[in-house]
Amino acid sequence: MSVTSTVDTMASPIPDREVTAQRLLKTSAKHSYDPAVEVDWDAPLAPDRYFLDPRRSSLYGTALWDRTSEEQRIALTKHELASFYNMGIWFETILMQMLIRHVYDRPKGSAHARYAYTEIGDECRHSVMFSRAAEKFGGSDYNPGWLVNHLGRLLKTTSTNTLTFGGAIYVEEILDALQREQMADESLQPIVQKVSWIHVVEEARHIRYAREELQRQWPRLGPLGRAYSRFVLALSVYFSTTRLIDPQVYAAVGLDVDEAVAAAAANPHWRQTKQWAARKVVDFFTELGLIRGPWKFLWRRAGVM
Ligand SMILES: [Fe+2]
Ligand SMILES: [Fe+2]
Repeated sequence: MSVTSTVDTMASPIPDREVTAQRLLKTSAKHSYDPAVEVDWDAPLAPDRYFLDPRRSSLYGTALWDRTSEEQRIALTKHELASFYNMGIWFETILMQMLIRHVYDRPKGSAHARYAYTEIGDECRHSVMFSRAAEKFGGSDYNPGWLVNHLGRLLKTTSTNTLTFGGAIYVEEILDALQREQMADESLQPIVQKVSWIHVVEEARHIRYAREELQRQWPRLGPLGRAYSRFVLALSVYFSTTRLIDPQVYAAVGLDVDEAVAAAAANPHWRQTKQWAARKVVDFFTELGLIRGPWKFLWRRAGVM
């Protein structure tokens, strides 16, 4: 087996699958965390601390924001974060099934398969952690909505290698950007910093695994496979990004849902936040050739380009 293989669409060589997986297994053995033990679930929430940097709220800077009280703003960031966490659980559930399908036909004695099982274990713990945190924030019921839930079902049942890892990188990179900021922000709720830190540490491995696998798989696709992947990925990006915040979040803090949804959709600050969170993954996909052709408008409509 060769140690490196080169892909014509990317300048740097991609390490061998087994070499990467062995490294990731070693790091997993040293740096894996059990949120049931690591997070102080009984600590009370601080009444005067934000859950998200207010600049990252979907309503920050709007006329509606100016009319809200400090208390309402804090509550809004709490519910927005609960919505992010529920979207995280939704996507991790999709990812776990996609990884199970990925590993089904692969040699079970390989480090690549063992790492896939390890990652599924990480995602199980993350979903339990997000679920407990969302419950603590009073926002357990947020969900992606009927349509997106069913589209997710279709994706997790039919995804190919490229879509499995392309979808994984997209959601993981967006959450990673937001959580890297949250874990370092000492003004936020301590529980938010802790949850973010655990997720950032473990997701760094997932992103590496997915990026390299995508770089290996993408060049093997023919024109039809590429066109199909670009289309389904653009759809996944559009629906997952526009549903990051369940509109019921606004009702929970006493705002008019229609007015708040319209304000967020037109909010340049919110658009900037989404573009900032997606910048790395958009650059990576653009370089690889995944964002091209007629479906690019969905990336723009999602507000990430
Ligand atoms: Fe995760
Ligand atoms: Fe992950």
